[in-house]
Formats: sequence, structure tokens, C-alpha cells
Amino acid sequence: MKISGKQIVITGGTSGIGLEIVKQLYSNNTLIVISKNNRSLDALAEKFDGIVTYQANLSFLSEAEAVANSIAGRFDSIDILINNAASQYTPMFLDDGFFYESISKEITLNFTSICCLIYLLLPSLIHRSPAVILNINSGLGLVPKTSSAIYCGTKGALNLFSQSLRYQLEDTNVGVQQAFLPLVDTAMTKGRGKNKLTATAAASKIIRGMEQGVAENDIGKVKLLRALLRMSPSLARRILKNS
Ligand SMILES: NC(=O)c1ccc[n+]([C@@H]2O[C@H](COP(=O)([O-])OP(=O)(O)OC[C@H]3O[C@@H](n4cnc5c(N)ncnc54)[C@H](OP(=O)(O)O)[C@@H]3O)[C@@H](O)[C@H]2O)c1
Repeated sequence: MKISGKQIVITGGTSGIGLEIVKQLYSNNTLIVISKNNRSLDALAEKFDGIVTYQANLSFLSEAEAVANSIAGRFDSIDILINNAASQYTPMFLDDGFFYESISKEITLNFTSICCLIYLLLPSLIHRSPAVILNINSGLGLVPKTSSAIYCGTKGALNLFSQSLRYQLEDTNVGVQQAFLPLVDTAMTKGRGKNKLTATAAASKIIRGMEQGVAENDIGKVKLLRALLRMSPSLARRILKNS
């Protein structure tokens, strides 16, 4: 699918990988960006003339529902929905000061709001031309590490949800794709990890995968991880455990 002249909804398009996707798709498409922070949305709209912005805190289901209904009311047809916004809370359950409220916020942002946005925007995605739902996933959705247990859980859930939804929609025009990312140099990974992929490179690999219709787009080191999982699942788990 050539990504040109499309109406694209993207969550978390104000920073990191989402912002790079916006930069790379902006000139040929209509972009509808949902993010939490009003100031970053205003800065985005100022820089990229014609971008449509919506403020919503997707950690709260009521806000996800409201923004989906507003978009569905304004745009009767959407070609691509990119579920990119997520957060990763790294403290462990036994850590002093673990923020209990983070549990439901992270699950809602990383998983439940995605199900909600897809359900409420599906009528706008179902039309004559090919449409795509792209869920941005992580190597941690395949094999968990010790910290970020909720993050790993939500990405694992997103993986199975995406595969099941693909079955449900296989007789429609809507394809369900996932991009599995390795460590990428963004605010989410600030101060952690080495040899990170740049957000620009991650975005261009994500876009290329969408254009080529790759259902499960393993990017960078995730290709190796998937191969290792087939050959030696226990080694893959050991390597990821303390990554
Ligand atoms: N970075 C990595 O190493 C890595 C690896 C694997 C997968 N991924 C995945 O890639 C995607 C993008 O990650 P990133 O590293 O680019 O993250 P990032 O730089 O932290 O950006 C996150 C984006 O999501 C938005 N957002 C955060 N909380 C939100 C909320 N409650 N409601 C609405 N929007 C919210 C942010 O908007 P505001 O600025 O307005 O808050 C921002 O635009 C995520 O799905 C992540 O899981 C990342």
C-alpha cells in the first residue's frame, strides 16, 4: 500500500517514534494526532501546518472514548490507525514507593485504550479501500524482562489481541499489523541501554513494513530475538531477564 493521500490517526505523535512517524508521513497525508500534553500538541500544530490535533489522556478510558467519538464524528473515513502511545513504569512491585495507581494507568494506556480506539473507530476504517490498524509493540511483548512487569504484560496482551483481531477482520478491508521494536533512543529509554536504534530509523522501518503489508514487522534486534526464541527459548529468556 502506498502511503499517500491517506487519513491517518496516530496516538503519541508528539515525541519519540510517533513524532518521527509524523515527520515522515506529514507531507503526503492528513495526520490526526492524539497526545496527552496540550503544549506539545500546540507546538506540533505550529510546526506542521494542517495537522489535526486532539488532546486526551489515554490512561483514562473515558478520555479515550471521548476522543474516538469526536474523531469518528468528524472523519467518516480513516485509512490508517497507528496505536503508538505507551508508557513504561520501571519500578518493581517490592520497591519502596511503588506507585500503586500506575498499574491501572499503564494498562489502560498500553492496552485497554487501544482496544477501545479500535472498536470505536472501526466503522470509519471499514470502507472500500485497504485500511490498516498498526499496533506498535516491543521485543518485551515476546519475552519479558524483570523490571517493567506491567509494560511487558500489556505488550504481551497486545500481541495476542492483534493476532486474534486479525482473524476477526480477515474478510474485511482492514488489515491488522504489528511492529516489534528493539531498544530505541527516545524519552522512554533515557539513561538506559546501549546501541539503541534512532527514532528516525525506527519510524522509517515501521513505515516500510506498513507499505509492504508485513503483518508482524520485527525490527532490528527483534529479528534475532525471534530466531533465538525458536532455537533456544530458555536462552532467550535468560538474556532478556536482566536486560
Ligand atoms: N523507546 C523504545 O525503546 C521502545 C522499544 C520498544 C517499543 N517501543 C514502543 O514504541 C512506542 C513509542 O514509544 P516512544 O519510545 O517513542 O515513547 P515516548 O518518546 O515516551 O513518547 C510517548 C508518546 O506517547 C504520548 N503519551 C504518553 N502518555 C500518554 C497518555 N497518557 N495519553 C496520551 N498520550 C500519551 C506522549 O505524549 P505527551 O508527550 O503528550 O505525554 C508521546 O507523544 C510505544 O508503544 C513503546 O512501547 C518503544
